Amino acid sequence: MNILILGGGGREHALAWAVMQNPKCDKLIVAPGNAGIAQIAECASLDVEDGGAVAEFAGENAIDLVIVGPEAPLAAGVADRLREAGVLVFGPSKEAARLEASKSFTKEICDAAKAPTAGYGHFTDAESAKAHVRAQGAPIVVKADGLAAGKGVIIAETVAQAEDAIDDMFGGAFGGAGAEVVIEEFMTGEEASYFVLVDGEDVLPIGTAQDHKRVGEGDTGPNTGGMGAYSPAPVLSDEVAQRALDEIVKPTMAEMARRGTPYQGVLYVGLMIENGAPRLVEYNVRFGDPECQVLMMRLGGQVLDLLHACAEGRLSEARVTWADDHAMTVVMAAEGYPGAYEKGTVISGLESLPEDSFTQMFHAGTAEKDGKIVATGGRVLNATARGATLAEAQARAYALVDAVDWPQGFCRRDIGWRAL
Ligand code: AMP
Ligand code: GLY
Repeated sequence: MNILILGGGGREHALAWAVMQNPKCDKLIVAPGNAGIAQIAECASLDVEDGGAVAEFAGENAIDLVIVGPEAPLAAGVADRLREAGVLVFGPSKEAARLEASKSFTKEICDAAKAPTAGYGHFTDAESAKAHVRAQGAPIVVKADGLAAGKGVIIAETVAQAEDAIDDMFGGAFGGAGAEVVIEEFMTGEEASYFVLVDGEDVLPIGTAQDHKRVGEGDTGPNTGGMGAYSPAPVLSDEVAQRALDEIVKPTMAEMARRGTPYQGVLYVGLMIENGAPRLVEYNVRFGDPECQVLMMRLGGQVLDLLHACAEGRLSEARVTWADDHAMTVVMAAEGYPGAYEKGTVISGLESLPEDSFTQMFHAGTAEKDGKIVATGGRVLNATARGATLAEAQARAYALVDAVDWPQGFCRRDIGWRAL
């Protein structure tokens, strides 16, 4: 098979690495890719949010399957455009991608499917949103309705903070994403993510993970895209996972199908678990980043068969082979992230790292310049490892971190603390 992966972060490097393990992969192109991906696959420069351009590229390169990494091309309708052109694609339609692109849409689907989630109100003006906050009291959660690059959620400790957040959102702090606001009950418990493949109505779980969103050790400081992750998530026991499938995932996927907009692709199910009862925090219509890195490390080459079966609507016959293992990824970021950071700093020592089926340094934001690897983003490298225990995976991941020479980089030293 000839495969095209869209995206250029650590998630896509991990996807590319796993897909390459499968002998069915004849040729792999990643657009746009990055310096790490370029070491294992061909990288192409392509506007991945332009469905017409992607379809044309797929035709010219005899691509048999397109795997969409990030949400932006999905929300832009790239999967629809590919399907119209007769290209097999792994990823939901624009309409189904609203499960991530609109928080009020997800709430509406949960209501219709009677799926447990936080109580909420949906507002299009600041005054009624504030009246709702005053009536509910704090803590309370204020969310911009649309895609805001993970920044559109404010957990307000006081009513005044919530009112300020409402003013910011309607004032345009998140652009069009904040033209509508969802206000949610603050849920307590432990968060974990559940990843399932969906091909319309059939669902196939492929793993659980937990990430660390805060930049600082002990889960303190500002929110980031994720500073590390591990799989499996102990809090998502078989029993809790089954409840999440039966009470949340299956009814909402059935509701999407009933509306004539069936979901196809990977569904990232963000859960809050309290006393063994899961509630939905959010859906994302893609793999998590960095959660994907730990899932790929554990699944390896079978990922291609699974994604292919999902894209062809054959999930009912697909099976996941589990190894009884654990994986961890530690994000190395540029000093200053998630605030302002320097770009172009040189990273050394990458050539001599051990890379096998137990350890991989995935690249998230790198480029090659004058024969050197330089940092091009906030999250730059993902030191990823697996082992028989989480402690073993952790030791291997940090050994990888310690072998890298990058003075302008940093990482959290406590990834996995909750599970260990
Ligand atoms: P979201 O973008 O909806 O995932 O929100 C980002 C993060 O905010 C989540 O991962 C949670 O940590 C937190 N969060 C969102 N909604 C709630 C809620 N209703 N109660 C408590 N925490 C929440
Ligand atoms: N790591 C969180 C996300 O991908 O949304």
